[in-house]
Amino acid sequence: MVERGASEPFKLKSAEADHLVEHRHDDDIVTMPLEGLHPAPHLRDMEHYQQMYKRSIAEPEQFWDDIARTGFYWKQKWDAVRSVNFSRKQGRIESSWFIGSKTNICFNALDRWVETGIEDHVAFLFEPNDLSDDKSRREWTYGQTLAEVKRVANVLKAMGVKKGDCVTLYMPMVVELPVCMLACARIGAVHSVVFGGFSAEALAGRILDAESKVVITCDGVMRGKKPILLKQIADKACEIAQKRGFAVASQLVLHRLEEDKSTCEMRGGRDVWYDEAVARADTECEVEWMDAEDPLFILYTSGSTGSPKGVLHTTAGYMVYTATTFKYSFDYQPRDVFFCTADCGWITGHSYVTYGPLLNAATQVVFEGVPTYPDAGRLWDIVQRYRVNQIYTAPTAIRALKAYGDSYVQAYDRSSLRVLGTVGEPINPEAWRWYFEVVGSSKCAVVDTWWQTETGGHMIVSFGVKGMKFKPGSASLPSFGVDPVLLDEQGQEIEGPGDGFLMIRQGWPSTIRTVRGDHERMEQVYFDRFDGYYLTGDGCRRDADGYYWLTGRIDDILNVSGHRIGTAEVESALVLHELVNEAAVVGFGHDIKGEGIYAFVTLNQGAKASESLQKELIALCRSEIGPIATPDRIQWVPGLPKTRSGKIMRRILRKIAEQGGSVKMEDLGDITTLADPSVVAQLIASV
Ligand code: WT7
Repeated sequence: MVERGASEPFKLKSAEADHLVEHRHDDDIVTMPLEGLHPAPHLRDMEHYQQMYKRSIAEPEQFWDDIARTGFYWKQKWDAVRSVNFSRKQGRIESSWFIGSKTNICFNALDRWVETGIEDHVAFLFEPNDLSDDKSRREWTYGQTLAEVKRVANVLKAMGVKKGDCVTLYMPMVVELPVCMLACARIGAVHSVVFGGFSAEALAGRILDAESKVVITCDGVMRGKKPILLKQIADKACEIAQKRGFAVASQLVLHRLEEDKSTCEMRGGRDVWYDEAVARADTECEVEWMDAEDPLFILYTSGSTGSPKGVLHTTAGYMVYTATTFKYSFDYQPRDVFFCTADCGWITGHSYVTYGPLLNAATQVVFEGVPTYPDAGRLWDIVQRYRVNQIYTAPTAIRALKAYGDSYVQAYDRSSLRVLGTVGEPINPEAWRWYFEVVGSSKCAVVDTWWQTETGGHMIVSFGVKGMKFKPGSASLPSFGVDPVLLDEQGQEIEGPGDGFLMIRQGWPSTIRTVRGDHERMEQVYFDRFDGYYLTGDGCRRDADGYYWLTGRIDDILNVSGHRIGTAEVESALVLHELVNEAAVVGFGHDIKGEGIYAFVTLNQGAKASESLQKELIALCRSEIGPIATPDRIQWVPGLPKTRSGKIMRRILRKIAEQGGSVKMEDLGDITTLADPSVVAQLIASV
């Protein structure tokens, strides 16, 4: 197999990534509308934010001690608030919080509320894919949710799952998904949720890496009009794992399709129906008291090299941070109804569906379907139906819905809304305006939240606070305990306004702890380039008011519809084809997806480019990774622009992907270090 070509070291590329930074202005300011404020908000005004923020940086230990002590149940208190080392020169990178304490996040999310007598309070409002599916549409109280979690936990125990074992969840966006996550957490098992859009190959890789003996899946699910047969994919993944010498011992299978259960193939001795197992299970299940730093979950995410890495989060710090950010970022108030459109297959669903809301005794909508089914009014129908107060979605969804026109929004009553949250990529000002003016009738806060799988919770946020000056496109201000720093290429800190690598100087409670099975990789990726800081991998600008403007990744990671995809992963899939010699993948500006996937492919001697070959390559990306990795464009090229040391000069490819055949040689910068500069003219000619 031909290996993909390596890239040059990361450079600040914000000036090139035009599609991420154009049309954004420091002086485009919208003041927080007074009508959108709760009468008793958690943050009274900007001064209150400033005062809390300053304390969180100046006295982090006291700050987090106060929050942790008053807002959670601890079986045993901590001896020290934290121990953090972000410098490889000082030794092993580590981050430990609430050291020596014992707690359980499931207990804090459920038992705690039931014990205070609010078991009838609604935790989940389940909205099925089909608008007319009244028999699936139901409420889950805290009491019912806890009862279900206990039973599932007992089923897992009976399957042999013990503290520290990893369970892989490959499920649709139904309430049973957070329930299964909580069941794992209850007994000290580590969950690994794999998004239902990933392929059998991708799922198998994650099962193998996590050594999951138990998989929880579902016969299938309707997403819009499209059935997704998860169980078949999970079976195939088990087969692939088996071939590589690993046997999945048990699969717990949720029944969600209309079709009779008998249409789903179940393998004797391995597969068990969820409903049947849960019905038989014991109703009592003691909580496993966890050490603060015991693993809670792993979640695989793309890096700039190699296969996706299992980002590991632990118990206490993650719990305190997600609960706190949920409360302040969204100004969640008792009896509010929160609605996050993200799937639990991503970190957003972990932190702001499963954990953050329940740790605040919140009521939230869980939506199984897609925003455009049956039509583009679906999210607003949900807002009206449940009187939603905070909605949390992604710029890609906002742009897609905006394209259908305002009438789909205006047909519904949205007067309950106070907060419009956004996450996943920089929001372009046009989408921001539409969200603010049309969806929120110019009375809501647009809360942009910049963060990452590795950070566990919100890091930079445009808080919807009295006196806040929103700047469309800017993620704005640091959240509590977050100390952002901009570094230049030489690693010098930039004071005041400027553009640089976004780094975080001091630890926050939900910092990534390790990469499963490879602590060294974690240290290298995040702490090697600049000693003493966490490297986010994003470029960023700070303006004169101290607001942060994210300018996109500085590494080889694409952001497609708010989802991270490593160019390396797509390239590895493409070069699997026998006719492909080399592949190089870059991103380009895409109206809906934010970034699209552009692949440059060279073929082996004698091989011919054709439409059918193009289809085969697309199919390969889908089967190796999943539909989200489908290339938008494939360009056949005679050669790739490589430096004399063999590194691909991706900035040239990015320019061509962006501007096509009209790109001018003089816009490409210095190309004299290329092994063969004539390749560039051929590349442009082959567009
Ligand atoms: C990358 C992290 C965190 C949940 C979703 C994605 C980009 C995320 C924003 C935002 C600008 C953003 C960054 C980041 N990103 N949110 N509000 N403004 N960029 O999680 O898959 O770990 O991806 O998404 O580039 O590094 P993820």
